[in-house]
This record gives sequence, structure tokens and C-alpha cells, in this order.
Amino acid sequence: MVTLAFNNVSVRFGGLLALSDVSFEVPEKQIVGLIGPNGAGKTTAFNVACGFQKPTSGTVDFPELGRGRLKPSQLARAGVARTLQGVGLFSHLSVLENVMAGAQSRPGGSAWRALVGLPSVARQERHLREEALSQMDRLGIVEFARSLPGGIPYGVAKKVSIARALMSQPRLLMLDEPASGLDEAELEVFEELIVGLRASMSVLLVEHNMDFVMQLVDQLVVLNFGRVIAQGSPRDISTNADVLAAYLGIDE
Ligand SMILES: Nc1ncnc2c1ncn2[C@@H]1O[C@H](COP(=O)(O)OP(=O)(O)OP(=O)(O)O)[C@@H](O)[C@H]1O
Ligand SMILES: [Mg+2]
Repeated sequence: MVTLAFNNVSVRFGGLLALSDVSFEVPEKQIVGLIGPNGAGKTTAFNVACGFQKPTSGTVDFPELGRGRLKPSQLARAGVARTLQGVGLFSHLSVLENVMAGAQSRPGGSAWRALVGLPSVARQERHLREEALSQMDRLGIVEFARSLPGGIPYGVAKKVSIARALMSQPRLLMLDEPASGLDEAELEVFEELIVGLRASMSVLLVEHNMDFVMQLVDQLVVLNFGRVIAQGSPRDISTNADVLAAYLGIDE
């Protein structure tokens, strides 16, 4: 089963072809890494997948959800979660509340909405709180539960945005540069976390840090100047001459 498929997707910004005839698939419960040098088109591809950017031609399909372009809100309800290249937390909510808010876009109706007017509100809220704390515990950020996002380190904020995305119980999690701004120790925690997600969801990982993705993906798609120049297992990609030339700037 395929969770997400790009079919001949092109995106043009004026005279610039940011994506050119891009096709690839994210199979169910696999981690696919989308890599490429600066300006290769990774974020553009990510935005197309999220529904933020309309392709100039081609389609993005979520086969389980039917064909046709879906709005970001529809994708969220259908079990697609994402974190953006930045962090994007609600600045007036505590870290814990930010994570709990992720449950709002659970597939099959909002846990949040279900809270309203039910006699068991307190129990449900307690349950969500416990769930949020357990996600945060997995990421080692429980101690920041009461902090406001403005007062926490960048690496912690990135983890908060992942914990929030996981609260929506996604079938597909899309991450844009989750490793940026993290130190070595944090990278290891992230690596383990992302590998652990494969048991329950598909992951599309957009990443600049090639060493980081190599360790944890099932498949890699390599973009350069908007085109897919290679796709395959990390082992195949690591010896692919086109990739080495483009990505590492090595001339043959
Ligand atoms: N909204 C836009 N309008 C015009 N050009 C854009 C727009 N967004 C991206 N581009 C251009 O499209 C190309 C691909 O950009 P994109 O941000 O997708 O690359 P990227 O692989 O994510 O790069 P980075 O590694 O720096 O994040 C670049 O040349 C960029 O300048
Ligand atoms: Mg980018």
C-alpha cells in the first residue's frame, strides 16, 4: 500500500522551474528521505505534499483518501501531520498545552470537540494531558511542560513541534528539516525517535543533513535543480555517482 504518491509534479515560479516532473512514492510504514542541496526544491515538494502549494502540473495522491487536491485542513483530519522548517508554536500557550493542541486534528473527528459538553470532560482532558506528557517524556522534554515557547531552547522547541504532530495520531508524518539546529546528542535522540515511528506510520523526511538521513530511512529520493536525480536505498544512493557529483560537489 502507498501512503503518498507524487505523479509527475512540476512547480513553476515565474521563470524558475522549482520542481520538474517529480515522481516518487512513500510506501505504508516506511521512512522516505527527500534530500538535495540548497534550492533543490525540497521545501517546495513538502509544501505541495501539505497542500500549501498547488502544482503547476502533475498530482499528489493519497491513495487511501481518494484523488484530487486536498486542503491542509482536510489532510489533517485524514491523518497527515507535519512540522515545518521553522518551529511554529502558539506563543501564548504552555509547552504542554501546545502538545495537547495537536490532538485537535485527530482522524475521525476532533478529540477536542468531543470534550465540549460531555460529562467526562475532566476525565478526557486528564487523559489527553497524560498522553501529551508521555509523548514529551519519550522526547525528553517533560521538564519544559509549564514553559512558554519563547523561553525554551531551539532544539527543545523542535521536539515540542514533533510531540504536537504525534498527538494527532498520524498515518503519515511529514518533517521538514527536523535535524536543523540540533547538536550531536539531540540528533541521536531524534534518530531513535523517527526510527521508532515506523511501526505505526509512514514518514516523509525532508532533510539537508545527509549523514542524519542515511542512518534511518528505508528509501531516499534525491533532488537537484528540481529534478529527481536518483532514488533507492541509502546504500545505493551513497555510491551513486550523480548524487555524489551533485550533492557533494565532487567533479568526476
Ligand atoms: N515562493 C517562491 N517564489 C519564487 N521562487 C521560489 C519560491 N519558493 C522557492 N522558490 C525557489 O525555488 C527553488 C527551490 O526552493 P526550495 O525552497 O524548495 O529549495 P530547498 O531544497 O528547500 O532549499 P533549502 O535546502 O535551502 O531549504 C529555489 O531556487 C527557490 O529560490
Ligand atoms: Mg527547504
